[in-house]
Amino acid sequence: MWSTILPELMSITVFILTILCLQAGHSPSYLQNYAILSLNTTGLKSAYHERTQAGLPIHDVYNLYMMTTCSGYWTNNSAPPPALVTCSPVSWYSKFLPATLIQTDLTSHHGANLSSLSFPPSIQSAFVERFNLQLHVAFIFYVIALVWVGIVIVWGMLACWVGVLGSFAVLFTSSASTSLLIASAIVSVVQSQAVALINDQGANIGLSAGYNGRFLALTWSAFAINCVSSVVWSLSGFCSGLVRGRGDF
Ligand SMILES: *[C@@H]1O[C@H](CO)[C@@H](O)[C@H](O)[C@H]1NC(C)=O
Ligand SMILES: *[C@@H]1O[C@H](CO)[C@@H](O)[C@H](O)[C@H]1NC(C)=O
Ligand SMILES: *[C@@H]1O[C@H](CO)[C@@H](O)[C@H](O)[C@H]1NC(C)=O
Repeated sequence: MWSTILPELMSITVFILTILCLQAGHSPSYLQNYAILSLNTTGLKSAYHERTQAGLPIHDVYNLYMMTTCSGYWTNNSAPPPALVTCSPVSWYSKFLPATLIQTDLTSHHGANLSSLSFPPSIQSAFVERFNLQLHVAFIFYVIALVWVGIVIVWGMLACWVGVLGSFAVLFTSSASTSLLIASAIVSVVQSQAVALINDQGANIGLSAGYNGRFLALTWSAFAINCVSSVVWSLSGFCSGLVRGRGDF
């Protein structure tokens, strides 16, 4: 029985980390630092201000999360954390559309629109055509991973009574590892490609993008802990099989 407690705790940790990947940004005060990427419009706003002496009524920063988008203003010398953050409703298929976000902020304002800002259309089309869809595929793999890890956790409770069952948990943990690997790899690639694209196409109008390592740390540690738990599950099933084989029969 005791041999199943360690892998059970590891699987519960993986479950929680995976949930956190999906829940970051659900509210203005919740895990705001765990954005997949941040679009920074400070340069665009100050260029506009120099040109027209008027302020551009858009947010300073737009953050992309797995299930939401949040926007806010820098209060601290263009450094995180942003203030006055608002978040889009949580969605199973959250779409990050930079041009639409900025245009929505501009509609209250008549002096500028996206074409007068020469906003590069390639940024919006890359999100419409691939990045949003790729992140949605990653989302689906996170959900699949949650189902497999959930099964492992319930299975592990049964294994407390029938220790040898622990070995079979490996079947589920390896499916979970595969799903977490696919989801984490997709997010990592989309993150670096989208940031590179925005910095490349947006630089001449003052747009920039960046990310910190926190989301990647979360998703890759879920994957790593799950891989280790696979090994521990198989050892625990094996050990309790031996103990029971010797004692109970
Ligand atoms: C946002 O962009 C401005 C100007 O390009 C820069 O000075 C600032 O450091 C950036 N902020 C972040 C958090 O990257
Ligand atoms: C402002 O940013 C600095 C580092 O850039 C940080 O040490 C400080 O805690 C921040 N202040 C607030 C109020 O967030
Ligand atoms: C955008 O603004 C420019 C002038 O700033 C104007 O000539 C143009 O018609 C506007 N375009 C749209 C689609 O509103």
